Amino acid sequence: MAAPGKGLEGVVAAETALSDIEGKKGILSYVGYDIHDLAPNAVFEEVIYLLHHLELPTPRQLDEIKDQIAREREPNEFAAQLMPYLAEKCAPMSMLRTAVSASSATDPDGWDTSEEANYRKAIRLCAVLPTMVAQYDRLRRGERIVPPDPTLSQAANFLYMLKGDKADDESARIFDTCLVLHADHTMNASTFAARVCAATLSDIHSAITAAIAALKGPLHGGANEQVMRMIKEIEEPSRARDYIVNRLNKKEKVMGFGHRVYKGEDPRATHLRRMAKELAEKTGDGRNYEISQEIEKAMMDEKEIYPNVDFYAASVYGYLRIPTDLFTPVFACSRISGWTAHVREQYADNRLIRPDHAYVGPAPRDWVPLSQR
Ligand code: CMC
Repeated sequence: MAAPGKGLEGVVAAETALSDIEGKKGILSYVGYDIHDLAPNAVFEEVIYLLHHLELPTPRQLDEIKDQIAREREPNEFAAQLMPYLAEKCAPMSMLRTAVSASSATDPDGWDTSEEANYRKAIRLCAVLPTMVAQYDRLRRGERIVPPDPTLSQAANFLYMLKGDKADDESARIFDTCLVLHADHTMNASTFAARVCAATLSDIHSAITAAIAALKGPLHGGANEQVMRMIKEIEEPSRARDYIVNRLNKKEKVMGFGHRVYKGEDPRATHLRRMAKELAEKTGDGRNYEISQEIEKAMMDEKEIYPNVDFYAASVYGYLRIPTDLFTPVFACSRISGWTAHVREQYADNRLIRPDHAYVGPAPRDWVPLSQR
């Protein structure tokens, strides 16, 4: 049992109108809309609009934001020049962190921090992250870059830029739902990091760079990648239970399980489990799904801990043939919508975030000159 307050558990760090969680009931909502309504009905661009305008778009507003996003998909000059080097030298999340940081240098709005400029920067960041990830992957594989297709949605365009072929409608729809499900999640570690940075009145690119750095860790966004590595290591559904028991006996965490706020099912996992099943049936390759099911049963029996968003996301991305080390960057391609909205919300009613501490070091003591130590 962690000490009270450790990891800021239960501390209200900010007021937000963007998303809400009722952990005991397993409810997640964006701006008042239940994730169980958004997942089957909304497209990702609608969610970007919702998070930034606090209302669902009209058809005309949705078309406008789609056009705006489609126009801003190309990385700007400095980030584009860096990409071949990053593809050769950097791990994916380090690439993304560096490319976003570099983007600030040649952003068309420069260092303008007005509300209007910050909104344009936010939309630009939402638009460009998937292009960065896809271009990086193609360059490191020695493939030619596939330019973004302005007629495609964010979801379909990402899969197209990554693979060079247009995804079938069902794959694009499932990936779109993944983007909807990952878009925002109250005061998670990366969003908090972004708000802390923004609260110093640093710029939006710096705040998003901080968020990407925080998302990278395996206790946060990095978990989805570790889940796929675990599934691959288990290999057979029949080996899952022993693997889990062994891991728990060694007091090791099982990635993709547990949550600070949800005490029951993470509502996002409900949709991701269903989509993993759908894709297993569609592809005729049930292995990852079956192994996942066995892991879930073992975790329930042994620890009564539920899967979180990262657990079935791993299988879904695997079925969509997204490379495992891109799972966390893909998470960022969605969460960028929430991060940028939170940064703008922070600027709109800012106060420096500067928590207090509990000192546990030695009591005051006398200085000892160097010669006497
Ligand atoms: N596997 C095994 N035991 C676990 C797990 C797990 N995944 N998660 C929690 N526990 C146990 C933990 O050992 C502890 O037991 P005890 O009280 O006996 O010491 C208890 O549950 C509380 O765990 P905690 O680590 O103190 O809980 P937390 O609120 O600090 O951490 C967490 C939440 C998500 C970091 C944690 O559950 C975890 O490390 N999970 C695995 C990593 C993961 O899947 N992360 C993705 C989180 S969801 C998406 C996101 O935000 O990115």
